[in-house]
Amino acid sequence: MHDQSRRDFLATTAAIGAAGLVAPLGFGGWSQAKGPGKSIRIGVIGCGGRGSGAANDTLTANPDATIVAMCDLDVERAKGVRDALKEAHSDRANVDDDRIFGGIDGYQKVLALADVDLVILATAPGFRHMHITAAVAAKKHIFAEKPVCVDVAGYHACCAAHDQAAKQGTAIVTGTQYRRQTSFIEGIKRIREGMIGEVVGMTARYCSNGIWYRDRKPGMSDMEYQIYNWMHFIWLSGDQITEQAVHNIDVIHWVMGGPPVRAFASGSRWNRPADSEMWDSMSVDFEFAGGKICSFDARHWANSDNQFDNVVYGSKGIAYLRAFDGGSTITDRDGKELWTTKGSIGAAYRQEHKELVESIAAGKPIVELRQTAESSLMAVMGREAAYSGQVATWDFMTKQSKLDLMPKLVTIPGDAPAPFVRKPGEYRLQ
Ligand SMILES: NC(=O)c1ccc[n+]([C@@H]2O[C@H](COP(=O)([O-])OP(=O)(O)OC[C@H]3O[C@@H](n4cnc5c(N)ncnc54)[C@H](O)[C@@H]3O)[C@@H](O)[C@H]2O)c1
Repeated sequence: MHDQSRRDFLATTAAIGAAGLVAPLGFGGWSQAKGPGKSIRIGVIGCGGRGSGAANDTLTANPDATIVAMCDLDVERAKGVRDALKEAHSDRANVDDDRIFGGIDGYQKVLALADVDLVILATAPGFRHMHITAAVAAKKHIFAEKPVCVDVAGYHACCAAHDQAAKQGTAIVTGTQYRRQTSFIEGIKRIREGMIGEVVGMTARYCSNGIWYRDRKPGMSDMEYQIYNWMHFIWLSGDQITEQAVHNIDVIHWVMGGPPVRAFASGSRWNRPADSEMWDSMSVDFEFAGGKICSFDARHWANSDNQFDNVVYGSKGIAYLRAFDGGSTITDRDGKELWTTKGSIGAAYRQEHKELVESIAAGKPIVELRQTAESSLMAVMGREAAYSGQVATWDFMTKQSKLDLMPKLVTIPGDAPAPFVRKPGEYRLQ
């Protein structure tokens, strides 16, 4: 049985964090010079769909990179990912079985390896802030998938980790890939240059036909089942708005230059499996200074129209920042096209790893965790406003809220929090 309580975890990381500060860390003591055997050595923590995708992206984007350790709750899954990566990248993913760890404490074993320079964090989101805090304390460079937190306690942990990483010179890049997608960068540059006049508001949508649900396997304890089917439990996923739609909310944060003042939200819940805590839809008006409204929608509705785009309305024009490979277009208010470009999300997925590794090699590590912690908290704020039916302010979320969803003890096998559906009027901001 492996135990990991928040208190133990914080005690360990505080002790390591106090061990002293260093100059920017290169690759295992090696820094800028390139040469044979001087590759960045990567550990993958969480080897599911995205962990394996991110490992492949970094090996593709960084010809010198090697994967040297891995972990997943399901150790056999990690070994399967190793085999697939080895097939594609041969000896750059030649991880011995004794460097592939299972269990809830597998991440600690990866972090304890002195020859791991950088970790990819891609488990279920609920663990992310804990893994980030531990990786920063172990002085590893980090690629952290989004969202980086699903509650307020996680947000504060990320802000502290950001400050510590910046102080000690370790990098943190996050999986908000639109920030590295040319069509978004170029579109937002033109918005900043005034092509649509003054920005007056925005719409952003993550509306799809549904999401996976993993049936419980025979013999699974409640904790094993919830982590296996993590999307449907709020302490693990943060609901759709945090887990998926943080991409769009991050675009709102980017265009508006920071977080909003308050959020007013609604939503629906009528069609999920009985034990799912997720809602079926959520819509949020994020209000920014000057009364500017950015209107956000997310839903999982079968047989309905999909929509994933971001549209920025200006006094003189409109910018369409389309999701995935959709590209960007700017028109005047009459619909006349002023500028357009194609988009490639695949290129953005690789670019984030390229910039991360290059920043470390150059001795100028990128640290961008706070920005993604703010976008993740915006999603939490919208979700909590919907769940409660109350207006949530940024001030309340950052200064007063004590929302902390992580169970006090996560053991495998073990008990898990009883699932419940939040109902407006009963559930309150906390
Ligand atoms: N940037 C993107 O576009 C993008 C796309 C997909 C997923 N993601 C993010 O990547 C993360 C993983 O998503 P996924 O689709 O790969 O999910 P997944 O279910 O396919 O994989 C998650 C893996 O993590 C493992 N895991 C869970 N908790 C763990 C723990 N505490 N320790 C070790 N292993 C643990 C699971 O066993 C599983 O193999 C999520 O945060 C998700 O939001 C990002």
